[in-house]
Amino acid sequence: MEKILNYIAGNKENFVEQLKEFLKIPSISTNPENVKDMKTCAEFVEKEMKSAGLENVKIMETPGHPVVYGEWLHAGEDKPTILIYGHYDVQPVDPVDLWTDPPFSATIRDGKIYARGAVDDKGQVFIHFKSIESHMKNNGSLPVNIKMLIEGEEEIGSVNLDNFIIKNKELLKCDYVVISDTGMIDSETPSICYGLRGLAYMQVEVTGPNRDLHSGEFGGAVDNPINALAHIICKLKDDKGKILIDGFYDDVIELSDAEREEYKKLPFDEAKYKKDLGIDELFGEVGYSTLERDSARPTLDCNGIWGGFQGEGAKTVLPSKAYAKISMRLVPDQEPEKIEKLFTEYVNKISPKSVKVKIKSLHGGKGAITPIDSPGMEAAVTAMEKGFGKKPLFTRGGGSIPVVSSFQSILNAPTILLGFGLPDENIHSPDEHFNLINFHRGILSISHFYNEIAKINK
Ligand code: BES
Ligand code: MN
Ligand code: MN
Repeated sequence: MEKILNYIAGNKENFVEQLKEFLKIPSISTNPENVKDMKTCAEFVEKEMKSAGLENVKIMETPGHPVVYGEWLHAGEDKPTILIYGHYDVQPVDPVDLWTDPPFSATIRDGKIYARGAVDDKGQVFIHFKSIESHMKNNGSLPVNIKMLIEGEEEIGSVNLDNFIIKNKELLKCDYVVISDTGMIDSETPSICYGLRGLAYMQVEVTGPNRDLHSGEFGGAVDNPINALAHIICKLKDDKGKILIDGFYDDVIELSDAEREEYKKLPFDEAKYKKDLGIDELFGEVGYSTLERDSARPTLDCNGIWGGFQGEGAKTVLPSKAYAKISMRLVPDQEPEKIEKLFTEYVNKISPKSVKVKIKSLHGGKGAITPIDSPGMEAAVTAMEKGFGKKPLFTRGGGSIPVVSSFQSILNAPTILLGFGLPDENIHSPDEHFNLINFHRGILSISHFYNEIAKINK
């Protein structure tokens, strides 16, 4: 291991330079203009897998963006096989003028690398490339059997991945899935995420009159779809943060007393949190702490709303249409399909007859909780401790990685979430960045993790 650790220390700067090339590719999966960049990015991943020493590396087509696969399976049959999953696609960059440097310039400031995808998830995928490379270059082998699956559609809901996994079930067969696409508490407090929320994402279209109208001529006589939509949205959640959709909480697994005790032990500085976000008061479901609210409780948020006149100045119009994008973060055991149905029934029930309401589901995914007492988790704890010099705490993440529950149900494999992001690194937001200390400690931790997980008897 010493040789490997020396190699990692000696290549610190090299690794960052190489990461920059990955971050410069604008692989925005939702943008039709970036289809070519998605291909370029898949080819970059293919090249990195090959040069790290993986075999059978291939770009595999899906009905959407391609998946990149590679493996190294010579550790022996008595050793476990891990499937490393990550994504090379990124979120859109808008509003682009709020970025200090262009989003695909990969600029370093104050020991942090800034780019869309820096921490979500390219930087974290790169940690695995470099950990594999460090083992292969110095030992000529890996301690554990590794399969690697890097997809290009995570940020658009992994719409083609379930089918891909079903079709390639044998190829992807493994004992554990390992994902570095989550965060830690703060830079001094390493933590392992053992739960993720699910998601049900809806779009509501409200139609009033069949065309835009003069708001003086018709105002007061004809319902306004924007006003109607605002009423509908107001009835989704009360002023105490409770969601009002009938049956919404029926399948929610409540936090156990023991879990709530664990939550209390996590460091959390409310004043700092508010200051960082520029808000005077927090808001959330009454009866739960902030950390519980943003990871173990379901919620509902309006993600976008539009309609009517958006230009400069005033236009006296009674618009024909109004739209909203509304998403709900779910917790185990809430089923996205059931929640979509409850949402639709409830919105139809509360909608006034004076407008027509169309509801569609955009995408969804189940939440997941991974057992914290498995041998794989113990290996993760030891590895984090070696990489960070501190024992990690356990947390649950508020975000979603829908494929985790698919790995569980299709491959019957538990997932270990070993992520190195920080809550203030602006994922999905302008000035996304990755702290290079955690990039480096991540490579150390993951290199140790391969050794630790190899100690598990199959
Ligand atoms: N890496 C995130 C998920 C995440 C973020 C987990 C923070 C835990 C903490 C992932 O790339 C992501 O953004 N997922 C989407 C899922 C959606 C597009 C289906 C999300 O959570 O919004
Ligand atoms: Mn991600
Ligand atoms: Mn993301």
